[in-house]
Amino acid sequence: MKSVRVLFVCLGNICRSPLAEGVLRELAAQKGLASALLIDSAGTGAWHVGDPPDRRSIAVARRHGIDISALRGRQVGALDFAAFDLILGMDESNVAALTRIAPSGTADKVHLFLSYATGRSQNVPDPYYEGPEAFEALYQMLEAGCSSLLERFGA
Ligand code: 4NP
Repeated sequence: MKSVRVLFVCLGNICRSPLAEGVLRELAAQKGLASALLIDSAGTGAWHVGDPPDRRSIAVARRHGIDISALRGRQVGALDFAAFDLILGMDESNVAALTRIAPSGTADKVHLFLSYATGRSQNVPDPYYEGPEAFEALYQMLEAGCSSLLERFGA
């Protein structure tokens, strides 16, 4: 498998994208592909820069054997469009925000995550105002999506 640099992007970089980062890193490690992938996450907004992931994302990751507690929020910026091969938005509004800020010639790196991974256009819904059950559903969605993503990479 050739190496790929992947940036997951959501709104706050505390719920969905850090969990996606942790899940893909774990699945890649299980397949012995850790060194082939550079994985990171960021938010389109700046409210949670420097913050750890939401405690509900940390908890659901931990229940599945993944530690994301050391990750810290950051905002996506112009340099990311050079540093990454793939910039995967969790929902259509993330994709729209990314497309707006993409430096010229880089918008083709931006995709809706599940659409790129599975070929089916589907948002990963924002769980911020939802209950704990939404975070288990989020985990399952991200695990299936990341598994498909690795298949698409030829892993
Ligand atoms: P995320 O969820 O985009 O999955 O990290 C959110 C986190 C924070 C906010 C919105 C969504 N917020 O409004 O602060």
